[in-house]
This record gives sequence, C-alpha cells and structure tokens, in this order.
Amino acid sequence: MSIKILAIETSCDDTSASVSSDTRILSNIIANQDVHKNYGGVVPELASRAHQQNIIPVVYTALSEAKIHKNQLDAIAYTQGPGLLGSLLVGSSFAKSYALGLDIPLIVVDHLKAHILSHFVEDEKMKTPSFPFLCLTVSGGHSMIVKITSHSEMEVLGHTIDDAAGEAFDKAAKIMGLPYPGGPMIDKLAKNGNPKRFSFSKARIKGLNYSFSGLKTSFLYFLRDELKKNPNFIEENKADLAASIQDAIVESLLDKVFIAIKETNIRRVAIAGGVSANSYLRKRLTEQAAAIQAEVFIPVTEYSTDNAAMIAVAAYFKYINNDFSTQEATPYTRSFYK
Ligand code: KG4
Ligand code: ZN
Repeated sequence: MSIKILAIETSCDDTSASVSSDTRILSNIIANQDVHKNYGGVVPELASRAHQQNIIPVVYTALSEAKIHKNQLDAIAYTQGPGLLGSLLVGSSFAKSYALGLDIPLIVVDHLKAHILSHFVEDEKMKTPSFPFLCLTVSGGHSMIVKITSHSEMEVLGHTIDDAAGEAFDKAAKIMGLPYPGGPMIDKLAKNGNPKRFSFSKARIKGLNYSFSGLKTSFLYFLRDELKKNPNFIEENKADLAASIQDAIVESLLDKVFIAIKETNIRRVAIAGGVSANSYLRKRLTEQAAAIQAEVFIPVTEYSTDNAAMIAVAAYFKYINNDFSTQEATPYTRSFYK
C-alpha cells in the first residue's frame, strides 16, 4: 500500500497544498497572492491574512484533484520554517488541527531541505540524483551550496553572508523600476539582451561563501551616474541591463559551485529553490558542467519555486523513518545552518 500525505506550504506569499502517493504527486495546488504587487515586496501581515483566506479552498482543491478522500490520508505534513512567522502559523495551525481531527500523524518539514528533496519527486521530466550530490540552493532568502549524502543528511558547504541571489534579482529589478517579484521579469527581459554589455563588480569572498550586497550597490551607482547623463537610460537599455546583471549574479553563483565540485570531487550537481527557475542559470550550468563531464539535475519549474509537492516528498522520507512530530512543534523563522 502506498503512503498518502497531504502537505501544506505557507512559508512566504504562496499558499500551496499537495497530495502525494509515496513520491508521486497526485495534486499540487498553488494560490499566488496578488496583494503584494502594489507594495514592491511581500507585506507579512497581508500574507498571513491571504493564507487564512486561501488555505481551506486550496486544501480542498488538492484533495479533490488527487481524488483522495481525507479518510484515506496517512499523514499531514507542513512547513515548519524558515519563513514569515505569521504565514507559517497559518499552515501549522491548519495542519495540526487537521491531523488531530483525523487522528493521523503530523510531520514537520524544513523548507530548504524540501527544496533540495524536490529532486526526488517521481516525474518523467526529471531524473533523480544518486548520493552524494551537491545542490546549489537559491531562494528569495537563501543562497547556499549543500552536500547531500542521504535524504536526511545535508551539510552546508557555503552560504551568503548578506543578500541572497533571489534578493539580488529582486533588488536589481526594483532599481530598474520593475514590479515584484523581479527575478522572473529580469529573466524574461534578459532573453533579448547582451549579457556582456555592462560589467558590475563581483564580490571576491574566500571559500564557498557568497556576497551579493556589493553587486547591488555597484548596479545602483552605475545607474545613478548614467541617469544623470541620460534620464531615459534604463528605458533605452532595459534588455542589456537585465542580461548583464543576470550574468553577474549567475556567474558568481556558478564560480563557487565549480570550486565545490573540484574540492569535493563530487561530480553530480543539482539546483533548487526559486532562482533555479532562471533560464540563464539552467543554460550556463548545463554548458559549464558538460565541459567537465559533471552530471546536472534541474527540477521542472513547478518544483523550483515554492510548492507543497516538495513538502510532501520530504515528508514521505520522514514517514518511512517514523520521524513524526507532536502538537507542540513551533514554527521557526531562521534556516537550519545559522
Ligand atoms: O524559493 P522561492 O520561490 O521562495 C522562497 O523560498 O524565498 O524563491 C523566490 C525567489 C524570488 O527572489 C524570485 O525573484 C526568484 O526566486 N525567482 C527567480 C526566477 N523565478 C523566481 N529569479 C530569477 N529568475 C527566475 N526565473
Ligand atoms: Zn522557497
């Protein structure tokens, strides 16, 4: 008999629920929150309220699309952290009540580990890495290189000391006057631009850590100077600006990934998290890995950005290890490596 899990993800601004059968995904429903568009970023209080409105319809849609009755579920899983506290509380309260009502086990999942474990979703469009492998894990709040030796053992080899790559994308987009979230907008605009037209100073940090705040400042000052000479500079150079800042972020990320491959001699490399949806990152990683015969693992876009399917799969590996939670579990806002 397969294990059926209902998973809930509410760490930031997307309300998501998924039903899985072992590592197969029967449904993965995601309600995006439009309320933040007018504010240029996620407003935590508005995110919590939207989760509260979305959670019941999203869960019911996930169950009905999966054609699973609640009484067939074996466990309820939810994202414990990291994320926005108010948002996490909505998912955790819902999950706890549902598990209590159905009298089935509760499983807590770490959002970042789940991004990595999205590679174990059974999907014909994806191949699953064998252990050990490296995973560049890049989201709105985190950028790190992780060494994965089993479904539960993960070691952070390097992480950002300031801004995350996703933040760098979003801030660069904001400076250019693009709406939030800026990452996908930059990706789209850059398709028609020249990535080598402008160059921005990249951080020179020792080891496998990252820093993106200097790059952001260099972009800001460059545009400030150019706008003094030509007030239409951004409008006239939008595609080249997007392509050039994207190139700087992506090459900074990949430089360290290839150092990590060399240092660990692990020739399997995956990407995960919202920024792993970036088409240029996918292309450059594939090209550079081919040159050294390293194997690349890229999740389908649906599992790159925030989704509950990855929570369901991460929960499945906990379920088979009898790693259950209690009603006392509390959400956390910071990631596991800090
Ligand atoms: O993992 P995620 O969906 O949410 C968090 O856990 O934070 O990551 C969101 C981040 C945002 O910074 C967003 O701009 C970025 O992922 N992102 C992208 C793309 N799609 C999402 N960045 C660059 N290119 C994209 N196509
Ligand atoms: Zn995420």
